[in-house]
Amino acid sequence: QKGGWDSYMDKEIHEDPQAVADTLLGRFDTNGDLNLDEVRIDPETFRQIDKIIIVACGTASYAGLVAKYAIEHWVRIPVEVELAHEFRYRDPILTPRTLVVAISQSGETMDTLMALRHAREQGSQVLAICNTQGSTIPRESDAVLYTHAGPEIAVASTKAFVAQIVAAYLLGLYLAQVKGTMFRDEIHQIVDSLKVMPEKIQWVLDTQAEKVARAATSLVDAKSFLFLGRHVGYPVAMEGALKLKEIAYTFTEGFAAGELKHGPIALVEPGEPIVVIVPSSRGRDLLHNKVISAIEEVKARGAFVVAVAEEGDPDAERYADVVFYRPACPTLMSPLVDVVPLQLFALDMAKNKGLDVDKPRNLAKSVTVE
Ligand code: M6R
Repeated sequence: QKGGWDSYMDKEIHEDPQAVADTLLGRFDTNGDLNLDEVRIDPETFRQIDKIIIVACGTASYAGLVAKYAIEHWVRIPVEVELAHEFRYRDPILTPRTLVVAISQSGETMDTLMALRHAREQGSQVLAICNTQGSTIPRESDAVLYTHAGPEIAVASTKAFVAQIVAAYLLGLYLAQVKGTMFRDEIHQIVDSLKVMPEKIQWVLDTQAEKVARAATSLVDAKSFLFLGRHVGYPVAMEGALKLKEIAYTFTEGFAAGELKHGPIALVEPGEPIVVIVPSSRGRDLLHNKVISAIEEVKARGAFVVAVAEEGDPDAERYADVVFYRPACPTLMSPLVDVVPLQLFALDMAKNKGLDVDKPRNLAKSVTVE
């Protein structure tokens, strides 16, 4: 069942490329345009949508946060991302033109289910992004876009995360198509860059795993880790931090690199490991330079920096102690590759500590109570 791997988590991380490829499959017509008839909401209703609220928990909420950057950029409507358990207790503003997107791997998370019920009671449309056919969340939603990651057994969510990002991107591109907020060619170009992501993820798995394992061996005794990123690297930092705390029982915090000087830098002491997601230096120089400055700041205080950066990034190589590489790709695609070494790192750390990586203590695969 584990296909020769030591654990389900191992197997599922190695299925990241397939999860992305399968989630893209069958979502385009012969002209290369997006065809999401399967979701059961007609294009006219989509055209009327003027706000999106994504509700989800844990890893699924970080996939939602990544999607916010992309969808707002492509569709030019506000996208809020809310932890499902907070949603209905704050009297959210919902109208028939609000699309609530519930993201859930299992389709059984009670907090997410209660949030979607609340949204529907208030007259909003709910679209589920879900990995489990026939589960409760898609059944109770107006529409569903399935991720095709295949069954995810390990408690720590891995391949579902990349598939959720892809599905949410497809939704965003579809909205851009029906609302006409982007040129057809632009949409096709983005779709093309999505289609090559499985190969890029595979490259990370093939070329970076050894380096990640060495880093996990040398850092096994670290008491805590900080993760930081900016833009789409911010939710990736939070996801990397969640993976490590969940299965290696290490205290971690993920935060936006810009926040460093507003508090967290006080935590930095000699030897503190800090994982930094470094944006590409192409096109978005400003962000790249800002993240590199954050690395310089923490290095000056003795931190041990592990960077995730584009292959050949001279600044990352110069300032970080260890660099896990991503192949070049557009910024909005980078979460799909950047999360991979972080998944492997958490797995290796947990293995080094002799822990059960598939069934971490105190956790259930789906949380069916509020
Ligand atoms: O099944 P769901 O996607 O609704 O689950 C949401 C969270 O409980 C889940 O992502 C959790 O955070 C994972 N254990 C993270 O690895």
